[in-house]
Amino acid sequence: MEIKRIGVIGAGQMGSGIAQVAAAAGYAVVLMDMAPEQLEKGMAIIRKNLGRQVEKGRMAEEEKETILGRIQTTHELEVAATEADLVIEAVVENMEVKTGIFRQLDSLCPSHAILASNTSSLPITEIAAATKRPEKVIGMHFMNPVPVMKLVEVIRGLATADAVFQTVKELAIRMGKEPVEVNDFPGFVSNRVLMPMINEAIYAVYEGVATPEAVDQVMKLGMNHPMGPLTLADFIGLDTCLYIMETLYEGFGDSKYRPCPLLRKYVKAGWLGRKSGRGFYVYE
Ligand code: CAA
Ligand code: NAD
Repeated sequence: MEIKRIGVIGAGQMGSGIAQVAAAAGYAVVLMDMAPEQLEKGMAIIRKNLGRQVEKGRMAEEEKETILGRIQTTHELEVAATEADLVIEAVVENMEVKTGIFRQLDSLCPSHAILASNTSSLPITEIAAATKRPEKVIGMHFMNPVPVMKLVEVIRGLATADAVFQTVKELAIRMGKEPVEVNDFPGFVSNRVLMPMINEAIYAVYEGVATPEAVDQVMKLGMNHPMGPLTLADFIGLDTCLYIMETLYEGFGDSKYRPCPLLRKYVKAGWLGRKSGRGFYVYE
């Protein structure tokens, strides 16, 4: 299966990063978001990231412009879908929203197109069941920040075809990533391991064991983590962290995954971390 044109749905922190690495790998990209300001913000981040590469002498100005020229933006799903060979969905971590988009993509995309989701935790099989092409639906889970992190978890749904899996694996490699295959269970491997640690760090603050700063210092200095878990939670987005914990809690039915009430409270307050200007820390 030859991929030339990629639709990216959602221009938030993940969608913009995916659009950047796809365009840098030579693909024609159509980046779609329903919010015009998010499209602008997403493109500004891509421009800044590429600009840094130019400043550091790793990329010619011309190359930067060529990469930017490969990215078209739109607020219409149809524009991103109609000529796409592959679509990567990166909207909010919510099953209803995702299945709604996959249903529409299924009717708008060419019949050969692969539909991938960047979901952090939701079952690929359930997303695939919203379409009439479950054999062409797959999980392609990038890590944040996309231009820097090497991993892409590749998740087959129950019906995903081998050829689709191979195509997506090769695509990830061409984008400079290292694909790792995992099975379709809540949170896959990455967030089944990472998110309970973050949730536990939030419990430590909630129960007064330590301040956010102290929890982060312990994990940075003591465990050599590049970011403490609360800094990382703010970086990921507290809404996304809560959605993932809820998926683990519901998916396994085990109380060890219950989301910390403090996490719920922050999300209800609109304290979503870096993207909203406040989470465990305050951002300018
Ligand atoms: N976008 C693009 N590039 C970025 C970036 C961003 N947001 N942040 C940093 N970088 C680049 C910098 O430009 C720099 O590049 P060069 O080395 O080429 O100059 C490089 O990354 C290192 O940056 P810094 O020196 O400024 O900072 P750092 O050494 O602290 O690294 C970091 C920043 C890579 C983000 C590091 O702190 C880190 O690895 N943090 C943990 C990230 C992590 O765990 N990600 C996974 C989150 S979980 C997930 O994604 C799955 C999910 O479903 C929730
Ligand atoms: P984000 O909040 O930064 O961006 C989501 C974007 O989706 C927003 O720009 C929003 O306007 C757009 N959107 C919402 N509904 C839409 C719709 N119906 N049509 C078009 N656009 C719509 O979120 P994010 O952090 O980029 O996360 C996106 C996805 O990637 C989620 O599924 C998340 O779980 C997953 N993910 C996140 C991370 C992370 O660290 N944040 C890492 C890996 C995977």
